[in-house]
Amino acid sequence: MKCLVTGCAGFVGSHLTEALLAANHEVLGVDSLIPFYDPAIKRQNLISALAHPRFRFAEADLIEADLQPLLADIDVIFHIAGQPGVRDSWGEHFAGYTRNNVLATERLLHAAAGMDIKRFVYAGSSSVYGDSPEMPWHEEVCPRPRSPYAITKLAAEHLCRSYRLDFGVPTVVVRYFTVYGPRQRPDMAFHKFLKAVLFDQPIPLYGNGRQTRDFTYVSDIVTGTIAAALAPGAVGETFNLGGGSRIVLLDLLEMLTEVTGKPVIIEQRGQQAGDVRHTWADITHSRTILGYQPQVSLQEGLREEFAWIQKRYG
Ligand SMILES: NC(=O)c1ccc[n+]([C@@H]2O[C@H](COP(=O)([O-])OP(=O)(O)OC[C@H]3O[C@@H](n4cnc5c(N)ncnc54)[C@H](O)[C@@H]3O)[C@@H](O)[C@H]2O)c1
Repeated sequence: MKCLVTGCAGFVGSHLTEALLAANHEVLGVDSLIPFYDPAIKRQNLISALAHPRFRFAEADLIEADLQPLLADIDVIFHIAGQPGVRDSWGEHFAGYTRNNVLATERLLHAAAGMDIKRFVYAGSSSVYGDSPEMPWHEEVCPRPRSPYAITKLAAEHLCRSYRLDFGVPTVVVRYFTVYGPRQRPDMAFHKFLKAVLFDQPIPLYGNGRQTRDFTYVSDIVTGTIAAALAPGAVGETFNLGGGSRIVLLDLLEMLTEVTGKPVIIEQRGQQAGDVRHTWADITHSRTILGYQPQVSLQEGLREEFAWIQKRYG
């Protein structure tokens, strides 16, 4: 396949790019290296792909770039680019979220509508479920997003649906449940936790610690995302990509001690606006249509991420 990966320099996009190259596909990566976190980290994420003969990189903004030439000859679009982060999405920051999550998606779909694209895979988010009480969440549960970020991610899903129904763009939505692993974004919990443990610093714990999360190792996310581009019967569908490792936060902190071999110091903080209490994926639909089955246990995945954190900061 000739693939376009938007957000190729980010955490998920860089892993996806490498996996596609390893599977003999051709990749054109697009990223504008937005300064949500240090662009130098993103450049580092790209080092291995840049050395690959089947990779080309376009440093370009999806809002400003001429998209037609980028889409020429492309079979599959993996639209991973976006502005992540629940807690930062309120108030003055919202404009950036609507720009990079809603407007960018609309622009890409509009450009794709005139091209011979086989699949358009959109990286959605479990945050769209918000505080929906029907757990575990299956894809038909009515979304009740709680943060401006989640609202932009849901709006982009609806754009995918509209462009599929009215313009025939073969869209598929994959909803990621908290992704972790090497290269995880510096604003994300495991990254912060493991870095804090490494330097014997306290871990900020928001809320009472009884909240639960369904974490997904990045290689499982990549496998599910590629399956969404290939599986028959996936077009028009939405798929949960969860990790099957739902855990209470306090138990996770115990696991951190086990994995790192170091004591974990906790610093209690208040509840954060936009944070949901629980996340829990029902992956039956993904298993049936995509053959999706997460392979990496939380313990194993945390070890991998800690090894990377040690290398990065140690
Ligand atoms: N990491 C998670 O746990 C998680 C969970 C749910 C959903 N997601 C979604 O997955 C996607 C990737 O997340 P991530 O954690 O890798 O984030 P990331 O910030 O590491 O990667 C996103 C990349 O998109 C690029 N980008 C943003 N706006 C752009 C634009 N207008 N033009 C070109 N490039 C642009 C950024 O520069 C960045 O490199 C996002 O869409 C996010 O909403 C992630």
